[in-house]
Amino acid sequence: MTTNTSPVLQLTGICKRFAGIVALNQVSLTVRAGEVMALIGENGAGKSTLVKTLTGIYQPDEGSIALAGQAVSFSSAQDAMQAGITAVHQETVMFDELTVAENIYVGRQPCMRGCIDWKRIESEAQKLFERLEVTLPVRARVKDLSVAQRHFVEIARALSQDARVVILDEPTASLSQREIQELYRIIRQLRAAGTAVIFISHKFDEIFAVADRYTVLRDGQFIAEGALADISEPELVSLMVGRSVKDAYPKAAVTPGEVVLEVRNFCHPTEFDDVSFSLRQGEILGFYGLVGAGRSEVMQALFGLTSGVRGTVSLHGKQVYIASPADAVAHGIAYVPEDRQHQGAHLTLPILHNITLPILSRVGFFLRGRRAQETAVARHYAEQLELKAAHLTQNVSELSGGNQQKVVLGKWLATDPKVIILDEPTKGIDIGSKAAVHRFISELVAKGLSVILVSSELPEVMGLADRIVVMHQGRIENVYARAEATPELIVAAASGCAQPLEECA
Ligand SMILES: Nc1ncnc2c1ncn2[C@@H]1O[C@H](COP(=O)(O)OP(=O)(O)OP(=O)(O)O)[C@@H](O)[C@H]1O
Ligand SMILES: [Mg+2]
Repeated sequence: MTTNTSPVLQLTGICKRFAGIVALNQVSLTVRAGEVMALIGENGAGKSTLVKTLTGIYQPDEGSIALAGQAVSFSSAQDAMQAGITAVHQETVMFDELTVAENIYVGRQPCMRGCIDWKRIESEAQKLFERLEVTLPVRARVKDLSVAQRHFVEIARALSQDARVVILDEPTASLSQREIQELYRIIRQLRAAGTAVIFISHKFDEIFAVADRYTVLRDGQFIAEGALADISEPELVSLMVGRSVKDAYPKAAVTPGEVVLEVRNFCHPTEFDDVSFSLRQGEILGFYGLVGAGRSEVMQALFGLTSGVRGTVSLHGKQVYIASPADAVAHGIAYVPEDRQHQGAHLTLPILHNITLPILSRVGFFLRGRRAQETAVARHYAEQLELKAAHLTQNVSELSGGNQQKVVLGKWLATDPKVIILDEPTKGIDIGSKAAVHRFISELVAKGLSVILVSSELPEVMGLADRIVVMHQGRIENVYARAEATPELIVAAASGCAQPLEECA
């Protein structure tokens, strides 16, 4: 352990208030060189606000920051970066039209004879990805990248700065298992080189795998800190939520009814091939696979977001044509996308309108009492999903990452769909709220809704789904009934092998 070394970073009594909200209240935090500090807390606890305060995006209202014993204050992210603090933020901020390499060096491009040295930018970016052992074309435009790839660009950007403190705010939320292992390796590399790392995650297995110490925040306040070797997971959870959490996967006893949705021979020139499956009333059909297996692409096609798709879709035995999301919604299909930032929420609108936007025509746009009705609908979903917000008229951009996700969920649930496709519904949602979301899904199916659950979390799929479709490289590898599914079988199928891996060599 490295507890004897002096702190690289010390925060004392940090307060940050937004209109009416105390996001950070007297928070203190110490991180030493060569140590990975896990910053733990529920959705809205103040983790990202702390990161932004540390990196010059926000200025603290009170308190002080010391870097290697020297008091510092930053007026911009650039300032913090120059002092050696860099962060990969929860919501990626990038220039979509620029290339991967340009995004990494934007604002600090190396110059040669007064001109930007593009060659050098590209070769430096290439070296970074080699170090990361990630294959990414440095000339690709960021707008064409997947969520996971965008994250890797952010990580590369942080690594390119040779920082003393590297902060990773939920870096693994959209990475595949292999990419997560790569990230662990990089974090360990940084630690060995004496960098201080602050690591934010809602996944406890990750925290225990990669971090040395923890600091827990709750409602913007410092709660506890210590060595992870001295604490158990349940103890950590109860510090975080202030109560013990059990039964994250309540599975209501539902006997699936007749077939509601039938997809036959779904094909796309590049993304997936010959995908057929059916969904019954009251059923939760899990879709498991590695990132890139084609699950989200199939769902986007089913929701009318993709052109060039062949195959048929039937609802209640009748073939339907879904050429746009409006068609899908008209047929009672809703889709909660994985990428809430780009596809899900209207960040600059209040929570209220975000939830009721798709149903405004039904609520009656110009009718008196619309506002009251809207508020009632929004309040219902906000309560059910344990949304943490000051009020319903607050802009979604002001919510914490996990709470934004809940708004997107609420918005689609309010359309009262027959079939709902949930793509990674608990990504970025804390362990306590996760139980609330699972409970809610369980209640919905008990009422007759059918759910397609795309998830990369094996316990979530196994805990909730009645049947599990496993995809690999754009095809369905196998389908397992709840009773026969084992983690070994599913993981093996996701890697393209029908037997457990040891029998498949
Ligand atoms: N710009 C802002 N304006 C108003 N309130 C804000 C703003 N940014 C954050 N908040 C509020 O501050 C609190 C802390 O939010 P923060 O994003 O730091 O939470 P978090 O711990 O990162 O949660 P999550 O796990 O969901 O990402 C929340 O109540 C949030 O709504
Ligand atoms: Mg956050």
